[in-house]
Amino acid sequence: MIKNSLDIRNDFPILRQKVHGKPLVYLDNAASSQKPAVVIEAVKNYYETINANVHRGNHLLSQLATEATENARDAVKSFINAAEREEVIFTKGTTDSINLVAASITKFVSEKDNIVISHTEHHANIVPWQMLCERTGAKLRVIPLNEMGEWDVEKGLALIDEHTAVLALGHVSNALGTINPIEQFIKKARAHEAAVLLDGAQSAAHMKVDVQNLDCDFFCFSGHKLCAPTGIGILYGKRTWLEKLPPYQGGGEMIHTVTFEKTTYADIPFKFEAGTPNMAGMIGMGAAIEYLQNIGMNKVAQLEDALLQEATSRLLQIDGLKIYGNAKEKAAVISFLVEGVHPYDLGTLLDKFGVAVRTGHHCTQPIMDFFNIPGTVRASFAFYNSSDDIEAFITALNKSLNMLR
Ligand SMILES: Cc1ncc(COP(=O)(O)O)c(C=O)c1O
Repeated sequence: MIKNSLDIRNDFPILRQKVHGKPLVYLDNAASSQKPAVVIEAVKNYYETINANVHRGNHLLSQLATEATENARDAVKSFINAAEREEVIFTKGTTDSINLVAASITKFVSEKDNIVISHTEHHANIVPWQMLCERTGAKLRVIPLNEMGEWDVEKGLALIDEHTAVLALGHVSNALGTINPIEQFIKKARAHEAAVLLDGAQSAAHMKVDVQNLDCDFFCFSGHKLCAPTGIGILYGKRTWLEKLPPYQGGGEMIHTVTFEKTTYADIPFKFEAGTPNMAGMIGMGAAIEYLQNIGMNKVAQLEDALLQEATSRLLQIDGLKIYGNAKEKAAVISFLVEGVHPYDLGTLLDKFGVAVRTGHHCTQPIMDFFNIPGTVRASFAFYNSSDDIEAFITALNKSLNMLR
């Protein structure tokens, strides 16, 4: 059955509630998405019927929990079109996935090398690479940004050379919404045999992602931004890389044999999954992916693009409002400021009208420094938002601005 927007909205129990006595208008999806009833049910059902530790038991519940969590791995494999299920590693989230790669790749990086990132990265895709540079003496190179919120492609491409060990790029900017031209950068990195990592925190939930087509070595994303629970994320890695990288953490689950003299490690993916995994999170992730695939990622992208166009044109009618991030290719994230109004005051008043937006630097301080601003108000949309949400947002915004100026 093809769902219309109202059916989709009704799938999300939280959206039925009021906040401060007003219907909730949730426009903070880039920070975290809401969860459909099927995901909440899947997690509840797990705890009510098959909760047990995985991989270690021969009792029925353990076997069922193992089967359900490994089914979730298969769901992720198909969602991102990985070549093999072993290339899908469960982590805590995007931050954890990037840190895993940045730590494990240390022995392949030397002081002669450089690591290329961009000016628009989330702190999660800056700090782990700075730490790698501190450990190895490698140099961090940064693809510059222009006023539209797009990368300077020519200058950026020139940064990649035979000493580039890692190219680590955000697929979509969480602060500006820009869908970055990663393909050209990946092509150049390939020519120089650099490892390519993509931060897909803002793309996996909003567009069709095909890791084989992208030809990246690593792709990272978080469950909580993708209608799945918190505390679960994915690191996709090409088999060749995952096999040569040493483990990130040691402990149970990731070993083959242990003696006091020597430990041998399990094969991938378990080599990178030390300790009891987040079973409920994995099952929730599987349910979220099934839910999204039933709607269709192309439809998700289409619905969100329509919301982006409508909200952008309504916002631009407001006197003194400036949007930061006006790239040609954009996801449904709108960062803005209104002349003479502090973003925090605006966010606080919007909340009183039931509208949840985010204010601040959005973990992208270098972007704020580039535009010489302290932060922005960010409205970010998901496929379950509607034109009614935009109407309520604009009405609340106008009322708030009347109070503030
Ligand atoms: C582009 C981007 N990268 C990384 C992250 C970090 O994700 P998490 O906090 O789920 O690890 C975020 C979260 O906002 C993000 O938007």
